[in-house]
Amino acid sequence: MKKHLFINGEWVEAKQYSPLYSPYSEEVIAEVPAATEEETEQAIASAYQAREVMAKMPAHQRANILNELARLLADRAEEAARIIALEAAKPIAMARAEVARSVETYKFAAEEAKRIHGETIPLDAAPGGEGRVAYTVREPLGVIGAITPFNFPLNLVAHKVGPAIAAGNTVVLKPATQTPLTAFFLAELLQEAGLPAGALNVVTGSGRVVGEKIVDDDRVSVITFTGSPAVGIGIRNKAGLKRTTLELGSNAAVIIDKGINVDKIISRCVAGAFSNQGQVCISLQRVYAHDTIYDEFVEKFVVETEKLKIGDPLKSDTFVSALISPQDVQRALQWIEEARQAGARIVTGGKAEGNVLYPTVVLEGDASLKVSCQEVFAPIVVVNRIASVQEGIDSVNDSQYGLQAGIYTDNVHTALDAADKLHVGGVMINDIPTFRVDHMPYGGVKESGTGREGIKYAIEEMTELKLVIWNRN
Ligand code: SIN
Repeated sequence: MKKHLFINGEWVEAKQYSPLYSPYSEEVIAEVPAATEEETEQAIASAYQAREVMAKMPAHQRANILNELARLLADRAEEAARIIALEAAKPIAMARAEVARSVETYKFAAEEAKRIHGETIPLDAAPGGEGRVAYTVREPLGVIGAITPFNFPLNLVAHKVGPAIAAGNTVVLKPATQTPLTAFFLAELLQEAGLPAGALNVVTGSGRVVGEKIVDDDRVSVITFTGSPAVGIGIRNKAGLKRTTLELGSNAAVIIDKGINVDKIISRCVAGAFSNQGQVCISLQRVYAHDTIYDEFVEKFVVETEKLKIGDPLKSDTFVSALISPQDVQRALQWIEEARQAGARIVTGGKAEGNVLYPTVVLEGDASLKVSCQEVFAPIVVVNRIASVQEGIDSVNDSQYGLQAGIYTDNVHTALDAADKLHVGGVMINDIPTFRVDHMPYGGVKESGTGREGIKYAIEEMTELKLVIWNRN
C-alpha cells in the first residue's frame, strides 16, 4: 500500500517515500511519503490560502462538518481501530476505545463551534468610559501547525484538528512518523464530510524537515504539539511570537493513603500503569503506598499484572503488545537494569520478547533512578512505601513534570490538602492520574507543558480576543 501527501484537498505524489513497519511483526505495512521542505511549504501555502474561506464559514456549517466527520468515523470505527492497532501496536480493544473517544471529541468540537463568543465590558466602571458600548469577539488565528504523537494517533489529532476547525482555522498536520496511516484516514473522512480544500493538509516525514519548516514559517500562527519535553522546548525556543500549546511528558503518580480498600483499586491501578504499554503521558508510573497497606498492595498488584495477556495487538484479548520501536525496548531495559543495580527489586517483568516488554514492577526505586524521574513511556511502574500522605505529596512534587496526579484517601481533609499542594495540571481524588475524558481541561505545569487542551480550552488557545468599542457620546 502506497499513501500520498494530502495537500489542498488532493492526494499528491511525493518525491520520496519510506517503508512503514509494524512495531509488533516488524513487517512492512505501507510506503509513506517523507516530505521535503518544498512539499511542506506547499501544504502551508494551501492552508494559508484556505484560511479566509474557513474564517468566513458560519458556525453552523463548521459544526455540521464536524458532526458529519463524527458520523463517518463511527461508521468506519473498526477500520480505524485496525489501522491504529497495525501501525501503533495499540491492542485492538484499546484502539476501539480510542476511536469511540475520537467520535466524542469531534462531537464536542461540533458543539463548541456554536459557543464561541466574547462578552460585554462595562466600560463605565472607569472614569472616562461613560457612553461607550464594548464587547469582545473571538477570531480564528489562521493556520494551525499541529504536530502529533504516535500514542493516540486518532484522538490526539482530534484534540488539535477538532478545535481548529470549530474555531474557523486551517491546519497543517504533521503526524508522528510511526502513525501516518491514521492521519491519512482522517483526511479522507474530513474530505468526505465536506471540509473545503486546503483546510486540512497532512504532511508526513521527519521532525527535522517537516516539523521545523512548520515551526519556522511566518504564515503559521499557532503550534500545537504533543510529544517529548526536549522537542517541545525546542519548538518554544524557535516559535518566536507564535502561540504554542505544548502537551509534554510526565512521570505521573498516585498516592494511596492508609485505610484504603486495596481490592477496590488494584485493577484500576494495573490498567493505569500498563494500558497501551505505558505509552500514555498520564500513565501511572509511580505509586506511593502507605506503609500500612504497602505489602498487601504490592502482592495483589503483582498477581493482577501477571494475568495480563501479552502479544499480538490485533487479538481482542491482548492487553500489552509491542513498544513503538526496538530502540524504546532497549532504553527501557537499560533503565530497569540501572534500577536493579542500584538495589531496587524487580518483582515481575524486566524482560522482553521481540518488541514486547513484559509489564514490570520495580520496588523501592530511588527518586534519582531513570525509571522514577524520567518519563518511562513503557510498561514499568515503581512502587514505594510512604509513612504519610505528606511524604507522598513531597515525592510526587519532586519531579520536573506535573501533568496529573491521583490520591486515594477516605479522609476529606487529606483530599483537599492534597488538591492544594500537588503541583500538577489536574488532581484526581480517589482515582489514578490516568483519567481523562475529552472535554475536560488537560495540560501540565513545569516540563509537562503549557496551555490546555479539551476542546473549549484549545479553542481559546486557537483564537484571538478582539475588543470592539462603540462611542455613543
Ligand atoms: C496523552 O498521552 O497525553 C493522552 C492521554 C489520553 O488522552 O488519555
